[in-house]
Amino acid sequence: MDYTADKTVYIGVNDHQVDLFEGLYIVPGGMAYNSYVILDEKIAVMDTVEAHFGDEWLGKLEAALAGRTPDYLVVQHMEPDHSANIGRFMEKYPQAQVVASAPAFKMMAAYFGTDYADRRVAVKDGDRLELGSHSLRFFTAPFVHWPEVVMTYDEGSKVLFSADAFGKFGALDYDDPEGWACEARRYYFGIVGKFGKQVQDLLKKITDSGIEIAAICPLHGPVLSEDLGYYLDTYNTWSSYGVESEGVCICYTTVYGHTREAAEYLAAALEAKGVKVALNDLARCDVPEAVEDAFRYGKLVLATTTYNGGMFPVMKRFIDDLTERNYQNRTLAFIENGSWGPMAAKKMAAEFEACKDITYAADPITIKGAMTDTNKAQLDALAGALA
Ligand code: FEO
Repeated sequence: MDYTADKTVYIGVNDHQVDLFEGLYIVPGGMAYNSYVILDEKIAVMDTVEAHFGDEWLGKLEAALAGRTPDYLVVQHMEPDHSANIGRFMEKYPQAQVVASAPAFKMMAAYFGTDYADRRVAVKDGDRLELGSHSLRFFTAPFVHWPEVVMTYDEGSKVLFSADAFGKFGALDYDDPEGWACEARRYYFGIVGKFGKQVQDLLKKITDSGIEIAAICPLHGPVLSEDLGYYLDTYNTWSSYGVESEGVCICYTTVYGHTREAAEYLAAALEAKGVKVALNDLARCDVPEAVEDAFRYGKLVLATTTYNGGMFPVMKRFIDDLTERNYQNRTLAFIENGSWGPMAAKKMAAEFEACKDITYAADPITIKGAMTDTNKAQLDALAGALA
């Protein structure tokens, strides 16, 4: 399927102005807000774009329409990066109807002061919208990643419009040297990671429906039209909290460098055994990168300082990032540092108590200031256990 062919046209925009996507995530490659228009006997526009890009988007839409007028605006997701221009669209095309789930109309009322009561088509799971040779079938996808989300399968072109699912950070005119997976993983675990069960339910619904997918058109990132099994399998691994890659993620905090020395000693010992290591200084790295590493690998070592009778603050925040996202099914180990009253390992263990299927590779290693030869022997043993 050529998604730029005459029937389905890409009318999305690239954002290189955004400093933090969703107010939280750095996006060095910018961000794409995708939108599409399906041209048939009837015309459906798939979602709008972020507020700052209304003029550009409406201009692209007008060019794609070539003098025609749209019949429907399909709103798959109400988060403002996609919904902000609903009002401008509805004003410009007063004959058009807006198609969305019932919860989406409640959100429209909340955001825009109107739920378009006289211009709306409310859809639920399995409903269809006929455009001509294109027949749109809706799949509700609650919490992928908001509760109102619907995805849309076009039976004419075999395209799945997947809302946020399968999206990634990065504008479409940014040539990402790491391909799809790295920024798709950071996006998934940062933004959707908490909702693994809901993503699993969606994948099952898609599989059970028996639909044949020729291309996936997400709301962010590139259209996916080749090797779709890879993307579906990867989403299955991520949403089931499976282990994607062999290796060990080590995340540490350090005050005067001693805990870093221990983390680096362990990393070197693992690498000497041929183990892939992802090493992150939580106070200095992009924490969402560390979060994706923690979910990517099956083994996680946390090394931190005792601080105010607990653990170093950025370690506490990082563990919250994991447990909020239902961290599970992993092997852990702790290294704590404390000059007089080490408490960090006990505090870290308490944070993971409610997580499912957590095992420990070894007892916590305690450093009192600088590493001793005994600590080095413990770290060597830990490397052996993790390898
Ligand atoms: Fe891309 Fe959940 O909005």
